[in-house]
Amino acid sequence: MSVAPRTDGVLVDRYDRVARDLRVSLTDKCNLRCTYCMPAEGLPWLAGPELLTDEEIVRLVRVAVERLGVTEVRFTGGEPLIRPGLLGIVTAVAALDPRPRISLTTNGIGLDRLAPALRTAGLDRVNVSLDTLDPARFTQLTRRPRLDAVLAGLAGAAAAGLDPVKINSVLMRGVNEDEAPALLRFALDHGYQLRIIEQMPLDAQHGWDRSTMVTAEEILASLRTQFDLGPDPTERGAAPAETWLVDGGPARVGVIASVTRPFCGDCDRTRLTADGQIRACLFATEESDLRAALRGGATDDEVAQRWRTAMWGKRAGHGIDDPTFLQPTRPMSAIGG
Ligand code: GTP
Ligand code: 5AD
Ligand code: SF4
Repeated sequence: MSVAPRTDGVLVDRYDRVARDLRVSLTDKCNLRCTYCMPAEGLPWLAGPELLTDEEIVRLVRVAVERLGVTEVRFTGGEPLIRPGLLGIVTAVAALDPRPRISLTTNGIGLDRLAPALRTAGLDRVNVSLDTLDPARFTQLTRRPRLDAVLAGLAGAAAAGLDPVKINSVLMRGVNEDEAPALLRFALDHGYQLRIIEQMPLDAQHGWDRSTMVTAEEILASLRTQFDLGPDPTERGAAPAETWLVDGGPARVGVIASVTRPFCGDCDRTRLTADGQIRACLFATEESDLRAALRGGATDDEVAQRWRTAMWGKRAGHGIDDPTFLQPTRPMSAIGG
């Protein structure tokens, strides 16, 4: 364990974890209303002036890459494809030196149209959220009849050369808990990499219930009714997903078991919200206001040092199982997953 924050170099915390993966939320708005994320009427969105401008986002990513050792930049939301300046932001981030790897987590709507331009701008890969293949269930779950648009988005991403194309599926009791094998079959048939996710307590409505959550153990048992899952020799590193080789490989399936098999000890992530706050953890209860620093005239060095100080305060783990656990006040859609 280190004793004090550094005044130069990488984003290290007191448990000696180094954050090299920056997740940038580009907007808190979304064109779906997934029941595990938002109420039907949506949420009070951030006001225009509260949002970082495209230039402010690119400046912060530049500071992270040039001064803080960030090597991977992921754009999230809300829904990042609805941010008007997305292509320009990706282009500017791809021009940084050293060039970070660039990825996007999206609900896939509009991706068929945007994927070629995103690829040209410098996007390397994409993760698409898709919880069900059943049109009626999709509409029930997301409150919008857009399954076809998401399927088109997936196909468009692969056709544009984004690689790999991953699918994120959150399983929910009594909604889609039986769909793991069908989702895996679909992913194998199309060359997508499926990851099934345990639901986390991040919904705006505070409806999460540990006792009814579909666990990794159940997910694996369900997949094993139709597939052989073998050990994956590739190194996991800091990835949230634990992966298995399907029917001898090379195809893989992942399970993201944030609750029953936490991976906080290896975390390499730092987060920037659409309104310019640094979050050391998805479940952080504190934020550091880089927007105020930027707009108050801070130099790149000062911004970098604030960021190091924020990461120094990162807690050892999310503490979901602690009796004192408090769900963050910001919902998932305003953090970016
Ligand atoms: P890859 O780099 O492609 O493996 O992406 P990823 O899995 O890190 O990111 P993605 O945006 O696809 O998120 C998939 C799931 O992992 C979502 O449910 C995220 O909320 C969750 N996730 C991402 N980072 C963290 C984290 O630091 N902690 C926890 N608990 N969950 C995370
Ligand atoms: N728990 C786990 N994953 C979630 N996501 C959204 N809300 C939750 C939650 N409460 C997933 C989305 C998307 C990614 C950013 O996070 O499905 O794929
Ligand atoms: Fe939108 Fe993602 Fe939330 Fe669904 S989970 S409403 S796609 S931000």
